[in-house]
Amino acid sequence: MSDTLEAPAQQDSDAEAMRRLERRTVAHLAAGGTTDWGPAPLTISPSEYTDPVRFEAEKRELFGKAPLLAGLSCEVANPGDVLLFDSVGPAILIVRNREGALNAFLNMCTHRAARLVSDCARRKLLVCPFHAWSFDLDGRLVAMPGEDSFETIDRTTRNLVRVPVGEWGGMVFVKAYAGEETIDVAAWLGEMGPELLRLNLAGTSLIKHSRVEVETNWKYALDTYGEGYHFGALHPTTFGTTTCSNVILFDSFGPHYRVNFTNSGYRDLVGVDEQDWPVTPYGGSHLVFPNSIVYGAPMEGGGSMIGMYRLYPGDVPGRSFTIMSTYRGADAPAGTPDAAFEGAHDYIEEVVRTEDYSVSKEGQRNLQHAPEGFRIVYGRNEIALQNTHRHVARMIGMPLD
Ligand code: FES
Ligand SMILES: [Fe+2]
Repeated sequence: MSDTLEAPAQQDSDAEAMRRLERRTVAHLAAGGTTDWGPAPLTISPSEYTDPVRFEAEKRELFGKAPLLAGLSCEVANPGDVLLFDSVGPAILIVRNREGALNAFLNMCTHRAARLVSDCARRKLLVCPFHAWSFDLDGRLVAMPGEDSFETIDRTTRNLVRVPVGEWGGMVFVKAYAGEETIDVAAWLGEMGPELLRLNLAGTSLIKHSRVEVETNWKYALDTYGEGYHFGALHPTTFGTTTCSNVILFDSFGPHYRVNFTNSGYRDLVGVDEQDWPVTPYGGSHLVFPNSIVYGAPMEGGGSMIGMYRLYPGDVPGRSFTIMSTYRGADAPAGTPDAAFEGAHDYIEEVVRTEDYSVSKEGQRNLQHAPEGFRIVYGRNEIALQNTHRHVARMIGMPLD
């Protein structure tokens, strides 16, 4: 076959993709600070955030059935590496086997259900801390001390219980129930998948995780990541000093979306020949439906940091928690110390905790005591929020109230 026939389909490069986004941003700034927006405002009832029936349906239909982002491949890179997923539903362990494939299992011994693994150290066998039953990396029961006592039990019926898992584009997904299926991640992400590939998640390395509890509904907290309308008012001395308020790009990919906020530096590009614009790595803030924000942002000194924020329902509608994770981007120069990424992580966590989540907590309290007939309104500029709430409602089978 000739080279011509084997050449891949023409695809825009990551640089061209970013340039197309930047053109839209600069056009908004040139127009005096416009933004992408939806066709109309949307009003909804406070029950969206407070109704226990709705909340249970979300836990059951979304968090109990949909593929959930459990981490990045770098966290479970080598055979015997373990990644734990404990945020919703059953405790799950993900382990890379000797052939390099990922297995996911209930983190439950098949003797008397003890928790099998409590840390992510690399291991050759999964050994239960209770009576030392041992399983190989494919979940087979390979050793039972005092096996004579179990002589009528067929060892092959006591392998670990599988959980659906899928790995694609440097991301690891599970479904939070027992099952044998492989998750078709590319199908789940649809047209947002190729955009996420541009972040080179497969080449990242973990910097740190932290966990933030907040007394607000998980969607109220999630809403704060989907609009840049609040930067000036809520973040005047933090994010608002470097990011323009209410100049936002929005692209939906089914239930998933990408928003691009506008660094103030783009103001300087209005009227400048595009040839002279600096080259910025591909970035943007992606909602991997239902609950995970994955973004790339340029680092001082070049390259990117990757942030991943996963939001989960707590025990009641008005409680949630966020696992915030930061990774060194594949394109980050070796000279950028890990401390620079840690510093960025800690700064963002502090702002989110004290500004975004502080407002979210008080807003939730007010919604729980909202007067009869009160309606929340999302503006045309809060199109990402409208998108998410519509898809949540559709997937739980309860129309928006
Ligand atoms: S519960 Fe695991 S060996 Fe007994
Ligand atoms: Fe914010």
